[in-house]
Amino acid sequence: LPTHYTLPSGDKIPSVALGVWQAGRGEVGNAVKTALYAGYRHIDGAWIYGNEAEVGQALAESDVPRDQLWLTSKASCALLWNNYHAPEDIESVLDDSLSKLGTDYLDLYLIHWPVAFKKTGNNVLDEELTADPYPTWQKLEELVDKGKIRNIGISNFNIRRIENLTSNPLKYQPAVNQVELNFWNPQPELLKWSKENDLLLEAYSPLGSSTQVAKSLAVPEVKDIACKLGITPAQVLISWHVQRGTIVLPKSVTPVRVVENLHVFELPREDFDKLENAAASHPQKRVVNPSKGWKLPFDVFDGE
Ligand code: A2P
Repeated sequence: LPTHYTLPSGDKIPSVALGVWQAGRGEVGNAVKTALYAGYRHIDGAWIYGNEAEVGQALAESDVPRDQLWLTSKASCALLWNNYHAPEDIESVLDDSLSKLGTDYLDLYLIHWPVAFKKTGNNVLDEELTADPYPTWQKLEELVDKGKIRNIGISNFNIRRIENLTSNPLKYQPAVNQVELNFWNPQPELLKWSKENDLLLEAYSPLGSSTQVAKSLAVPEVKDIACKLGITPAQVLISWHVQRGTIVLPKSVTPVRVVENLHVFELPREDFDKLENAAASHPQKRVVNPSKGWKLPFDVFDGE
């Protein structure tokens, strides 16, 4: 299985990352140190996770040189976190992430959600900036040219929203789209479309997140394949993601699991197909969808 994928910039992004969403303060630092020690070189975080300072501290205490690390963060502007998407606000949010992480550039910076809130807070939708993320994107392009970000991408964008963005004259195409992908929500159409359009997907909540992980690991096909290959059910699922051609971002703060999750294995074709079919043959269900929580007048994933 690929250990890296090559982005349009030519940069090589490691296929397995440690995801740090829901990795709390007081535990995320150790998880990052365990990961780096085990051989991870890719940490996927975000400003809104509230743990970037502790991640930065762990990075500083490790002896991995910066140029061997892949650091992703997600902005919060009138399309980054959702009330910092306004083009004039992005740089200050980025600078805050940079200073917390203790670095002067990010390898990848994403628009966290295709939804912009007004700066007043309280999740009031900025309809104009939500309908047209191009000004936000242009600001990100500027920050690439300034040397603060090496690659830019999007997250939680459905096909309609991607096309809405890419119909503009972009200087840099989105390098990735980070979306929820797991056994319960495998999104085969989005995966197919993304491959046809040369847009790499990154799988968040690849095990089904904390609420569905136990169920994911107990899927009969997953257990059978694990038993047959002598690997763990989590390794079966993480390997499946890479074999589907996506980056995978498993989250764990448990050292033994952090180590386990880095080791992916090519599944025999029949087992891969069995898993793909099993994932497609139950009602598709998202594990993560904050649309209602944010009281959006639409479902952010509609039209996919
Ligand atoms: P923990 O962080 O307590 O170790 P996802 O990556 O889909 O978001 O899933 C994260 C959830 O899966 C967390 O609850 C995490 O628990 C758990 N988890 C991560 N890796 C493993 C593993 N190898 N075996 C069992 N559970 C895991």
